[in-house]
Amino acid sequence: MNAKKRALSGIKSTGSPHLGNLLGMILPAIELQHNYDCLYFIADYHALTSQHNADEIRKNSLELAATFLALGLDPEKAILFRQSDLPEVTELAWILSCFTPQGLLERAHSYKDAREKNKEINHGVFAYPVLMAADILLYGSHIVPVGKDQKQHVEIARDIASKVNNTWGDDCLVLPEAQIKEEVQTIIGLDGQKMSKSYGNTIEIFLETKKLRKKIMKIVTDSKGIEEIKDPSNCNVFKIFKLIANSEEQKELADRYKNGGMGYGEAKQRLYEVLDAYLQEPRERYNDLIRQEGKIEKILFEGAKKARTIASITLGTLRERAGLGPREKYLQKK
Ligand code: TRP
Repeated sequence: MNAKKRALSGIKSTGSPHLGNLLGMILPAIELQHNYDCLYFIADYHALTSQHNADEIRKNSLELAATFLALGLDPEKAILFRQSDLPEVTELAWILSCFTPQGLLERAHSYKDAREKNKEINHGVFAYPVLMAADILLYGSHIVPVGKDQKQHVEIARDIASKVNNTWGDDCLVLPEAQIKEEVQTIIGLDGQKMSKSYGNTIEIFLETKKLRKKIMKIVTDSKGIEEIKDPSNCNVFKIFKLIANSEEQKELADRYKNGGMGYGEAKQRLYEVLDAYLQEPRERYNDLIRQEGKIEKILFEGAKKARTIASITLGTLRERAGLGPREKYLQKK
């Protein structure tokens, strides 16, 4: 018997992955592959809430899969799959919908945020947390490594799972818990706000080196002159630097802030150097992989096969408890 706990996480395939995704979710998730049974997937059904261009959806899915692989996900250890390769998840989402109070979804940050920004809200946007709950619950996940912004969604999944279990029995669904890395709670973007595609302040992971430098030079700072003494803890450049650099490098740069005589341009150059060095090897692996679509598809396909074995157990139990589908005893035996 395999007694390892199960970890699951997903990432929505809209746009190219950025440092916020990398530090908040991708790296912590990959780290778990040694100690947990891990399932990671590309959330293309979720991407469909805002992206209706088929080529974009496909391209982004492959890019994300290549990103996980380039950064060290080992498909022998962790299951990597594409959400839509298991359409069963939408069946579970429907069953869960029937346990989800409207008010719970109205309180979801993602929905409130979309309303405040006057974005177009289709039913997929409103039901987003239910599909996410289905992702988590279908595979019996114990922990869900995510960025802080997804914490509420995991709590919603837990809430819905409790309702199902109260009705149909505690053996139906595992109650999941979010796992959030303390040191990378919020990753800020170029403008000091949370790094997010929707704010247009991202630093993409696999930018070619010149473009990476250009982006870093755009990080917003205050207007202190070169000679002035500066406070690293208050500086957007340093906040990002801290997440990548080792403690020696951090101390060295922090001292330069505090001593005066260093402009922000120099701090940015330092950040660029450290980040570029850090990303160089994964970038090479990524560029190599992304040219081999067939290889990526095959890995995803194999992942989906393994994921299906787990999914069919959960869904089988629920269908039986719900009274859905044919009854085993009347099925023709060959
Ligand atoms: N909502 C997550 C994001 O925006 C993606 C996601 C979908 C997910 N389903 C999930 C994350 C299940 C963790 C678990 O990136």
